[in-house]
Amino acid sequence: MSRPNSLTEKLSKKDKDFLFHPNTNLIAHKESGPFILERGEGIYVYDTDGNKYIEGMAGLWCNALGHGNEELADAAMEQFKKFPYGNLFASKSHEPAIELAEKLVDLSPFENAKVFFGSSGSDANDTQIKLFWYINNALGKTKKKKFLSRVQAYHGVTLATSSLTGLPTIHGNFDLPQNHFSHAMSPHYFMNKHEDESEESFVERLGEDLENHIKKEDPETIAAMFAEPLMGAGGVIIPPKNYFETIQPILDKYEIPLIDDEVICGFGRTGNVWGADTFNMKPVSITVAKALSSSYLPISAVIISDDCYDIVAQKSDELGIFGHGYTYSGHPVACAVAVKTLEIYERDNMLEHVNKVSQTFIERLKKCDQYDLVGNTRGIGLIGAMEFVSVKNSNKGFEKKGVAGKIFADHAKDNGLIVRAIGDVIAFCPPLIITDSQINDMFDIVEESLKKTMDELAKQGLLK
Ligand SMILES: Cc1ncc(COP(=O)(O)O)c(C=O)c1O
Repeated sequence: MSRPNSLTEKLSKKDKDFLFHPNTNLIAHKESGPFILERGEGIYVYDTDGNKYIEGMAGLWCNALGHGNEELADAAMEQFKKFPYGNLFASKSHEPAIELAEKLVDLSPFENAKVFFGSSGSDANDTQIKLFWYINNALGKTKKKKFLSRVQAYHGVTLATSSLTGLPTIHGNFDLPQNHFSHAMSPHYFMNKHEDESEESFVERLGEDLENHIKKEDPETIAAMFAEPLMGAGGVIIPPKNYFETIQPILDKYEIPLIDDEVICGFGRTGNVWGADTFNMKPVSITVAKALSSSYLPISAVIISDDCYDIVAQKSDELGIFGHGYTYSGHPVACAVAVKTLEIYERDNMLEHVNKVSQTFIERLKKCDQYDLVGNTRGIGLIGAMEFVSVKNSNKGFEKKGVAGKIFADHAKDNGLIVRAIGDVIAFCPPLIITDSQINDMFDIVEESLKKTMDELAKQGLLK
C-alpha cells in the first residue's frame, strides 16, 4: 500500500494528468491509475512501493535477458561515448551496424542475405510491405498489391501493419483494415475446431480455407503472405501439427512468398533460433525485433534473401535511389547492444538453457489443466498460455469476455506475478534466463491465483 503523498501517489496524479497510454482503456485508467514500475533485477521488477514481481511476460514478450544486465549497459555506454549517433543513408556506415548485419545473416536460414534496420516490429513489417510492392513493380507484376495474413495475427500498429494484424481491437474505430489486406482462418485448433474434428482434419480445412481465400482474392493480385511462427498477441496460438507443411505448397503453387514475422519467436523463444525452424516454415524474408537487443534499446530488422535484394538493388540503380529509410535505421548504440545480446545468447548457450527449463515450464503449465476454469493449456520453449472456459471439458468461453482473465491477472499481480490477460487467455512469456526454481515459484502463484479466481467467479455465478 502506498502512503499518502508517497512517490507513487505523486507520480499517479501526474501520469493521469499528462500521459496518453497505448493499448489502454483510457477511461478505466482515470479510475485505476497507473501501475508504476521503478527498477528490475533479473526476472524480477519492483514497483514504486517496493513490491517485487516476477515478470512473467518479459515486458511485452521482449526482455529476454531480464533486467540489470551489466554487459548490455556497458556495451551501450561504450558506444554512447564513442559514436552515439550515425546513419546509414547515402552509403554512410559504422561498425556496430556492419557487425550486427553480419551476425544476423549468419544466423538466418538464407545462404546470402541483406539486413535493413528499423526501430520497432511495426516499422520493420511496414518495410516488408513496401519492399514487396517495390519488388513486384520492378518485376512488372504491377497487379500484386495485396497481403494475406490471418485472423488473430499481430504484426504491428502502423497504418499498414495494423491492417495486417487480425484483431478487432486494433481495427476498431480506425477505419481499418485498409484495402489490400485480408485474413485467412486462424489456426487455433482448440477454439476453431468443429465438434469431433481431429487436428489432422482441421489442418486440411485450414489448407482449403487458404486456397479458397487466395482464389477469391485472385492470386495474380497477391504480393505475399505474412505469418508469425506461433501467434503471440492473438493468444499464444501454436500452429497444429503439419500446418506450415500444408500451407507452404499452396503458397508455392500460387507463387506467393512467405514473410516470417519472428518479432516474438526469434532468438530462442520456441527452443530454436527461429520459430521458422520449430514449425518448418520456408520464408523469403524475416522480421526481427524485441529479443534482438533484449529490448534494452529499440531496434528491429528485416533480413531479406539476396534473391529478393538483388531485384531491389537493380531498380534502385534505375531510379537513382532506394527511397526508404529511417533516421534511426541502424542506430549505433542500439546495434552495439544487439551485437552484445547475440554474443551473450551464444556464449551462454541460451538455446540449451531454454530447452532444459522448458520441461519444467511445460510440466507446470500442463498441471493447470486440472482446474475447472482451464479449458486448454499450450506451450513450447518458454512461451505458453492457458485459456479459460465457462464449462469444463468444452471450448465454451464466457459470455462477457475478459472478466475472468482480468480477475486472474489482478490476483496474480497481488501475489507477485505479472502476466498478460488477452481476453480470457493468460499468456506466459518469461525472460529466457528464468531458472527451474523460478518457474516453479511462478506457477505456484499461478495455481494460487487460479483458486482465488474460481472462488470469485463462483460467487458471481459465472462458473458452473
Ligand atoms: C509478431 C509481432 N510482430 C510485430 C509486432 C510489432 O512490434 P512493435 O510493437 O515493436 O512495433 C509485435 C509486437 O508485439 C509482434 O508480436
